[in-house]
Amino acid sequence: MTEIIDGNAVAADIRADLQDAISTLKDAGVTPGLATVLMSDDPASETYVSMKQRDCEEVGIDGIHVEIDPEAPAEELYETIDDLNADPDVHGILVQMPVPDHVDTRRVLRSIAPEKDADGFHPENVGRLVAGDARFKPCTPHGVQKLLESTGVDTEGKDVVVVGRSDIVGKPLANLLIQKADGGNATVTVCHSRTKDLAAKTNQADIVVAAVGVPELVTGEMLSDGVTVIDVGVNRVDADTEKGYELVGDVEFESAKEKAGAITPVPGGVGPMTRAMLLYNTVKAAGEQSD
Ligand code: GUN
Repeated sequence: MTEIIDGNAVAADIRADLQDAISTLKDAGVTPGLATVLMSDDPASETYVSMKQRDCEEVGIDGIHVEIDPEAPAEELYETIDDLNADPDVHGILVQMPVPDHVDTRRVLRSIAPEKDADGFHPENVGRLVAGDARFKPCTPHGVQKLLESTGVDTEGKDVVVVGRSDIVGKPLANLLIQKADGGNATVTVCHSRTKDLAAKTNQADIVVAAVGVPELVTGEMLSDGVTVIDVGVNRVDADTEKGYELVGDVEFESAKEKAGAITPVPGGVGPMTRAMLLYNTVKAAGEQSD
């Protein structure tokens, strides 16, 4: 029987642990605060940010939300980040990506105070992660590690194929998986749009992580029997539903399920874990800033 990995259940356990840590901080007079900044009218980004705010409320983190008109000058965003950096009630800052084209994404990532960088995207924090001294692990890769751990899949010595080389998921995840640490010690192959024969790579993997943003790219025939499949993709595809679309992953679930020993669904797999690890980073930031 194929195990369907329940990201909602694992995320709920993580949130429960966090609530204890938040209570301890509150007893010491510190309420963790997370600022989310949205400079976009993309409906998916709006949904993600509102879910993150709802999560904060649920666990007792103060959520501060700033919306900036996507047509506004870039300076408005840079100044907002400066203000949030200086605000002692804000322990974590997240600027929802992508930002509009006239905004310098690298400047945004560099401007967030590294100790408040709940996403772990600041170059200092990227460097620390690569050096094996992570301060904040980026939320999705960290969530993938926690899902594998919860499923009882030991990564040590395993062949892992990561499909996708993004700064947000593929690159940091590959780095975490090769580290000499729990949840690491794997042999990692990173595939992308220029990979010559993707199926030849995925077919020899013990674990496949798809994070490429192409609907149902990875199919059952590209997988070996018993493989663990983690699907990071969330793609809106046109469908005859009330909303006019449906969400599908980067994996063709039905055919992949026939081969997999364990597989994440979309939705309900990686998504809730990403959100839980954001709360984790916020609580960690609050603890360190109040030390
Ligand atoms: N856009 C898509 N994923 C993410 C994420 O993990 N963090 C931020 N800030 N923006 C995103």
